[in-house]
Amino acid sequence: MQKKIARNDPCWCGSGRKYKVCHEAFDEKIHRFSLEGHIVPTRDLIKTPAQIEKIKESCKINIAVLDYIEAHIHEGMNTGEIDRIVYDMTTQMGGIPAPLNYEGYPYSVCTSVNNQVCHGFPSPDVILKDGDIVNVDCSTILNGYFSDSSRMFCIGNVSEEKKRLVDVTRESVYKGLEQVKPWGFLGDMGQAVHDHCAAAGYTVVREIGGHGVGLEFHEEPWVGYNSRKGEEMLLVPGMIFTIEPMVNMGKPDIFIDSSNNWEVYTEDGLPSAQWEIMVLVTETGHEVLCW
Ligand code: MF3
Ligand code: CO
Repeated sequence: MQKKIARNDPCWCGSGRKYKVCHEAFDEKIHRFSLEGHIVPTRDLIKTPAQIEKIKESCKINIAVLDYIEAHIHEGMNTGEIDRIVYDMTTQMGGIPAPLNYEGYPYSVCTSVNNQVCHGFPSPDVILKDGDIVNVDCSTILNGYFSDSSRMFCIGNVSEEKKRLVDVTRESVYKGLEQVKPWGFLGDMGQAVHDHCAAAGYTVVREIGGHGVGLEFHEEPWVGYNSRKGEEMLLVPGMIFTIEPMVNMGKPDIFIDSSNNWEVYTEDGLPSAQWEIMVLVTETGHEVLCW
């Protein structure tokens, strides 16, 4: 339940203006959607301009780290080296790798190779080889603000089949992104992602999705891709969330490695790809904060 603000009180957004001339009409608009039966964001999901600036600073580190990995990843490198690079770069820039010790996760980054769907443990024993596809998922905390994004990398000569999986997955994220606009719905995005992957003959993992992000690592809403246009949470300016579909070449089914309860694999052993971006809903559409 949100506290009622008097019309002449300062607005909750931190603008210093009176509520009645700032976000009152905005709040009423959201309320009308909720009366129509839509899921609407609570105020804590709507970032203020000051918070957005802080989150963007965190994103700068995340982008710089992934840019560096992109420039240096190569055949013969082990994923433990990637973990070391992520830890060193992030801390040198004043940040903390968000995965480290998150719910007991023991590394600074997730590196998921081929049939690994997500949360792959970096390790000196995992040596990148010719033909591998690998997702590097980086997340940063800077001054308490979170960023999160991931990219795919193709090592050496990757088969056309796997390259296409990587490309279609990336395209699906941008198809979804096109649907991100104020007063639209999260399901508009989800359906666009799903439809693009399905048209290419792929499946999208159902159990694991994206999330709100910024003040916490994982906030509401949960971001799935089996939703339909006009469904799921209403999008309003100031919301920030990730789009990060895990797309399988074969069946959508997955399992978690019971020896560590983290690493996720495809049930059928076929490859899986994932790209993750962080998007801000703006007054006019959207802004990609992190990729
Ligand atoms: N970066 C992942 C995400 O996109 C979260 C990984 S949780 C971790 O949501 F603990 F494994 F890092
Ligand atoms: Co994420």
